Amino acid sequence: MWLYLSLIVILLLLLYWGLCNRSSSPSPFSADSRRPPAPLVIDKDVRKKILKKGVNPARSSFSLHAVLVDHFLEGGWYPQGVASEIVFQSIPIIERSGGTVLTKAPVQSILVNSEGKAYGVSVQKGQDLVNIFAPVVISDAGIFNTYERLLPAETRNLPGLQAQLSMLQHGIGGFSLFIGLNGSKEELGLEAKNYYVYPTNFYLNAPRETAAKNIPLVYITSPSAKDPTWEKRYPGKSNMIVLAIAQYEWFEEWKDEKVSKRGEEYESLKSVFVDSMLETVLKIYPQLKDKIELLSSGTPLTNQHYIASPQGELYGAEHSLSRVQPEVIAAIRAQTPVSNLYLTGQDVFLGGFPGVVHGALVCASAVLHRNLYIDLTLLERKIKANDSKKKN
Ligand SMILES: *[C@@H]1O[C@H](CO)[C@@H](O)[C@H](O)[C@H]1NC(C)=O
Ligand SMILES: *[C@@H]1O[C@H](CO)[C@@H](O)[C@H](O)[C@H]1NC(C)=O
Repeated sequence: MWLYLSLIVILLLLLYWGLCNRSSSPSPFSADSRRPPAPLVIDKDVRKKILKKGVNPARSSFSLHAVLVDHFLEGGWYPQGVASEIVFQSIPIIERSGGTVLTKAPVQSILVNSEGKAYGVSVQKGQDLVNIFAPVVISDAGIFNTYERLLPAETRNLPGLQAQLSMLQHGIGGFSLFIGLNGSKEELGLEAKNYYVYPTNFYLNAPRETAAKNIPLVYITSPSAKDPTWEKRYPGKSNMIVLAIAQYEWFEEWKDEKVSKRGEEYESLKSVFVDSMLETVLKIYPQLKDKIELLSSGTPLTNQHYIASPQGELYGAEHSLSRVQPEVIAAIRAQTPVSNLYLTGQDVFLGGFPGVVHGALVCASAVLHRNLYIDLTLLERKIKANDSKKKN
């Protein structure tokens, strides 16, 4: 049952969704959040080769990479209470604006009438399908899922829609490793930092077993060390996330097997990746060797199962050089060839959290026929004026 982790893979929002609701809500990004320092590159020889995460350097855009580096130069923001707070804090905003958030209600299809207009979604509730009607349907399920799986077959063949799909590729898949550690961040020497480790560049063209031992990019971070509320909630414990990129095809042969029942061969392939990633982690943090209490790893198939990324993508549609060509940018919009159906999220803009937020702004602007970036600029001015009034 795909689309299982359905914390609203499609958000059905009423037209009058008050995205620009001005009353300030408690923000997970409040001023006293930790500001982790810039990402740290430990191998100086490969520093020059390092380009945007999630895209092969040879195919990535320099200006996008510059934006990413600039974003981190002053440090990044981290939500208090870790990343799940982003969803948790968003729900009351949606509800205040007349929306409803449904979980365990995977969307099965987008309802399209005989005139080709979207008018709602069909969601699964237990064994039944329930239709939910709406004047506007906004899909955050990604362009591939929305067009190739959720739209009815006769709509899928619309030329405009096929033209958009032909301009995009699936982004790179991810392999993730979650580590539970015995010890506080002080005891373990964990800091609010991201490591991007690039020991080799022989990988994606390699056979999977060779690749597993030559992982070229390992991203290492400790969410618990970034979260100022962590110590109160889980005293004496820490965690770590380690990410690598991985080809979907390496794991594809197990795609029809049930999650956590994919057999010995799959598990042993996974463990080669895990051992290799752990080795890199322990080079940076040798003190963690005897502190590991839990290891849990996921392949592109895991992403496919839990977050319905069609090929285990880390960042949706690939944001390579071809993605940022003017004709592609002009073609991929929040508005779709199906009236009343809009796309939001990373495929409308770019991958990563800022990309998703901008995708949402672009989408809401399209739905409301108003440029919300102007509203945002005015709001920023107001807040600044307010702040300086308070200081005086
Ligand atoms: C965690 O570390 C503490 C202190 O070093 C130790 O007493 C405890 O036994 C450890 N727990 C586990 C599960 O290893
Ligand atoms: C300005 O400050 C007042 C009083 O602190 C507050 O009620 C209001 O929400 C603030 N407005 C903005 C735009 O931040």
